[in-house]
Amino acid sequence: MSDPKKLFIRTYGCQMNVYDSERMAEALGADGYVATDTPDDADMILLNTCHIREKAAEKVYSELGRFKGLKADNPDLKIGVAGCVAQAEGEEIMRRQPLVDLVVGPQTYHRLPQMMEQVAKGEKALDTDFPEEDKFEHLPVRHGAKKAARNPSAFLTVQEGCDKFCAFCVVPYTRGAEVSRPVDRILNEARDLVERGVREITLLGQNVNAYHGAGEGGDWSLARLIWALDKIDGLERIRFTTSHPNDMSDDLIEAHGTCAKLMPYLHLPVQSGSDKILKRMNRSHTADSYLRLIERIREARPDILLSGDFIVGFPEEDDQDFEDTMALIREVKYGQAYSFKYSTRPGTPAAERALVDDAVATDRLHRLQALITEQQRAIQQRMVGKEVGVLFEKAGRLEGQMVGKSDHLHAVHVHAPDGQVGDLRRVRIVDSAPNSLAGELVG
Ligand code: 5AD
Ligand code: SF4
Repeated sequence: MSDPKKLFIRTYGCQMNVYDSERMAEALGADGYVATDTPDDADMILLNTCHIREKAAEKVYSELGRFKGLKADNPDLKIGVAGCVAQAEGEEIMRRQPLVDLVVGPQTYHRLPQMMEQVAKGEKALDTDFPEEDKFEHLPVRHGAKKAARNPSAFLTVQEGCDKFCAFCVVPYTRGAEVSRPVDRILNEARDLVERGVREITLLGQNVNAYHGAGEGGDWSLARLIWALDKIDGLERIRFTTSHPNDMSDDLIEAHGTCAKLMPYLHLPVQSGSDKILKRMNRSHTADSYLRLIERIREARPDILLSGDFIVGFPEEDDQDFEDTMALIREVKYGQAYSFKYSTRPGTPAAERALVDDAVATDRLHRLQALITEQQRAIQQRMVGKEVGVLFEKAGRLEGQMVGKSDHLHAVHVHAPDGQVGDLRRVRIVDSAPNSLAGELVG
């Protein structure tokens, strides 16, 4: 028998791409491909790209250029581009980089096996449709996909796309309109994951709290879905990301207070603390409505750890607008946050507007990041002495040490010589380092 063909996937960007890469690997696995962790010996290279950062497309082209030598050594090597740059650039990729055999958008990768047949015949394959059918229903099920011990924490995509059209963002164009997967599909996939040893599931969606999938009796909210997942024995923890403030419904806030499996962590991007800028960003909420929302969430779950996304230097952001953002951050106190200097995405409404001076934007970014780091450290420091649950994900570097995530998503190092990957143990936090905590087993 000939050796199996080797597939190398490089994943950029968000967790949704991580999930999609796993599904694509499974789809191609059914075609006889096994994963390899280097492009050097691969028969197929797939770049699963992200378009959210600056010069995303340029970076993909330069990455592709680096595969020239590999293709010269192995003329049978196939090269594919998937994800949001594939969606945005489409045929341009084929035109600019003749090395590429296949371009597949995020909504059509269930068609990969057919596309691979085309490629095997020496043809080029391109598909960046937004089809009617649900790609997940046409993918091979996860059964036995990877039998080896896996991470006890898994992602599960429940919703895709976005109808919000924030003025800076490409997602509504690359991922398309908001679509929710049906409830039974999600519950089956969750049960299957749990049977394979998964104990924590993070529900994914670009706008996950806008979830409205078809279930018994009509459309279900995200909270209702969470309560159904809560009933799965063996599933210990539920998380979800990313949420929009306007979709933080009452039942979801309540679930944070009453559902023990729903972890006390919420990623709730606000982007700016200035109403003028929020309006120009087309965010359709104000700084004040966001702050009131946070208050209600904290009433339901006082120890919840909040995380956010911020953009500084959005067109027309002046010093006062930036100070408003800093004031909002001081008020909320984040445990974690991602922050970015605004950069233009062609095709988005904000792309037409004049940029803030780059040095000014850079300075604002540094100041904002310093404030977030200060808050993050203070919150970590306050964890010392507290007892938390830690789900062990891997062995630590030291003998007898395990590393896992706390309920609040902090990385925790624990001395636990009897510890196994997948154990959920009670741990007392004893120390705080810049990027992790140290803890001791309780009892
Ligand atoms: N410039 C800077 N940051 C951006 N983001 C999205 N688009 C842009 C852009 N054009 C950030 C937002 C979003 C996160 C995923 O990326 O903060 O929440
Ligand atoms: Fe982009 Fe999020 Fe705004 Fe949707 S809600 S347009 S994904 S930033």
